[in-house]
Amino acid sequence: MPANIKSFYHHPTYTWTHVLSDPATGKAAIIDPVLDYDGASAHTSTESVDEVLKYVKDNNLDVEYVLETHAHADHITAAKHIQETLKTPVIIGDGIKKVQKTFKPIYNLGASFATDGSQFDRLMKEGEVIKVGNLELEALHTPGHTNDSMSYLVDGNVFIGDTLFAPDYGTARCDFPGGDAGKLYDSIQKLYALGDDVVMHLCHDYPPEHREPQSAFTVAEQKKHNVHVHEGVTREAFIALRTARDKTLAAPRLIIPSIQVNIKAGAFPEPEGNGMVYLKTPLNTF
Ligand SMILES: [Fe+2]
Repeated sequence: MPANIKSFYHHPTYTWTHVLSDPATGKAAIIDPVLDYDGASAHTSTESVDEVLKYVKDNNLDVEYVLETHAHADHITAAKHIQETLKTPVIIGDGIKKVQKTFKPIYNLGASFATDGSQFDRLMKEGEVIKVGNLELEALHTPGHTNDSMSYLVDGNVFIGDTLFAPDYGTARCDFPGGDAGKLYDSIQKLYALGDDVVMHLCHDYPPEHREPQSAFTVAEQKKHNVHVHEGVTREAFIALRTARDKTLAAPRLIIPSIQVNIKAGAFPEPEGNGMVYLKTPLNTF
């Protein structure tokens, strides 16, 4: 039986969360879940991810993993909420160690903060496979946007994180620490080589006014229409375009709260003596 994929759009952060499930066994994985976070009031809520959990419950799915395609800079992950609710392990790419090493001094996280990825339950390396019921899910290292970016290939589908966006929007920025436009180009070619019929599931969509958010496009559609990396665009041309565009981009709205939580698998800092939880805001850094 083919894999079943249900996608949920989080409007405030333009993020797609995917629930991958095996119809034969009812086993499932949740990919890139989002915690609601209002930056102005610093208020968190699980309303959106609880919709995903309701779908899981209504369909009697047994969630075996939460998968992160990378440590996101534009939303806070809801991995911890799912882990606490369903006792589900949280998985990310092995490159998270490099991301942790980069951001530990920026957030001054202290000696007790480990940069070995141990906050996560498993770190995936290139080519490693995990099973979701009868489905085999293979990790493909696709760096460029970040060091830790992983894509997950399963049954003619690939969850591509922030490598490509919709064809009319192009590609992800490469100007975060560890980002590299040349590496992103190579990662995209690796995904294109999977075959024209493979369905690419996005982590984000930023649709123009005339269309609805769309969660997936085939490799053939991206190769033909992607405004940044359609067939015929050279590596040099892409690097020039991506680098020029990145110079014009402001910092993501939620980068400061997001990264400090996401590199800890979604865990917030311990409450202080008054019982309240605080996030850090490094000044003049991002
Ligand atoms: Fe991202």
